[in-house]
Amino acid sequence: MTNGAIDRMTNGPTQPSEPYRRLLVTGGAGFIGSCYVRDVLARRDGTEITVLDKLTYAGNEANLAPVRDDPEQAARLRFVKGDIADREVVADLVGDVDAVLNFAAESHVDRSILDPEAFLVTGVIGVHVLLEACRTAAHRPRFLQVSTDEVYGSVPEGQSREDDLLAPRSPYAAAKTSGELLVRSYVVTHGVDAVVTRGSNTYGPYHHPEKLIPLFVTNAIDDKPLPLYGDGLQRRDWLYVSDHAAGIDHVLRHGRSGETYNVAGGVEMANRDTVTLLLKHLGKPWSLVRHVEDRPGHDRRYAMDGSKLAALGWRAETSFEDGLARTIDWFVANEPWWRAARSGDWDAYYERQYGQRLRTAT
Ligand SMILES: NC(=O)c1ccc[n+]([C@@H]2O[C@H](COP(=O)([O-])OP(=O)(O)OC[C@H]3O[C@@H](n4cnc5c(N)ncnc54)[C@H](O)[C@@H]3O)[C@@H](O)[C@H]2O)c1
Repeated sequence: MTNGAIDRMTNGPTQPSEPYRRLLVTGGAGFIGSCYVRDVLARRDGTEITVLDKLTYAGNEANLAPVRDDPEQAARLRFVKGDIADREVVADLVGDVDAVLNFAAESHVDRSILDPEAFLVTGVIGVHVLLEACRTAAHRPRFLQVSTDEVYGSVPEGQSREDDLLAPRSPYAAAKTSGELLVRSYVVTHGVDAVVTRGSNTYGPYHHPEKLIPLFVTNAIDDKPLPLYGDGLQRRDWLYVSDHAAGIDHVLRHGRSGETYNVAGGVEMANRDTVTLLLKHLGKPWSLVRHVEDRPGHDRRYAMDGSKLAALGWRAETSFEDGLARTIDWFVANEPWWRAARSGDWDAYYERQYGQRLRTAT
């Protein structure tokens, strides 16, 4: 069993037999994609990465600063600002690589309820453009689609397995499910070499402050109210971001074409217990918490069975206590990063999402 980090056995010069030496990472300026890029370039000499990212409000080139700070790693990174739904750009980049990893997506469920269209364009049309480019490229690169446990819908009991019924309940989850189904169709119909990963709720450094953990950490630092949806008893299966990146890398290198793999965190927590731990670490009081009107269609519970990927030799290694402490400490130490992420249209978004909820909170 390898540990959660990108497989240490593969450190050092890339072997001539390494099939995935040149990678196209879409969405590589986002939260999980940038972690993947940082970890692979730091740990696997010889691997070259092209990042294709549209730099939406969630994309941030500063997430790749640790790579830029190391001249040897920087020389193996190329950044292209562009859209995965742009056929010409994509065809040009796919022509040059051994594998395409698609992290690009609109990723926030709340925004998919307010404004779903971009979710469909990137999550369906964008995935289709990438698949077409892989299908028509002479050397047939491997395609890896980064998907989510949210495709299973709410799971009242037990753990989701890869062949369970897909029952997405938000526009975000429906777009992710649609992307997966397109991948499956290209494997079956066109023989494209493709794999799918379904990751648990992910947390860690560089997480956009619109998401639960970084929102509550950054609000608590500023002694602002923490808007907790409903009773706060929704349960999530948490996965530390570098574990998620490593699980994806393991599937890229060892997954069977046409297969889907859960990348499970194995840490099930009620949201209010997560908030309790977070406030304790920061030394802030529970009185900051406001119970606000719940998200419509809010899934009560996610939980995934990780045994299929464990059988390939990988499982997550970071405990929630360690991962959460590392995450909070990173946000405390990187205030300019998250203050910049909370600029631009942040105030308008925050008011639209939480303004009325906070005014009627209990
Ligand atoms: N965050 C989680 O908890 C989680 C869990 C499981 C799966 N996932 C999946 O992992 C992937 C990455 O999630 P994240 O949390 O890092 O998201 P994120 O929002 O932080 O990053 C998404 C990135 O994609 C880029 N992007 C968006 N639309 C694009 C387009 N049309 N063309 C090119 N780039 C585009 C953005 O600029 C951004 O850099 C997503 O596919 C998401 O569905 C996320």
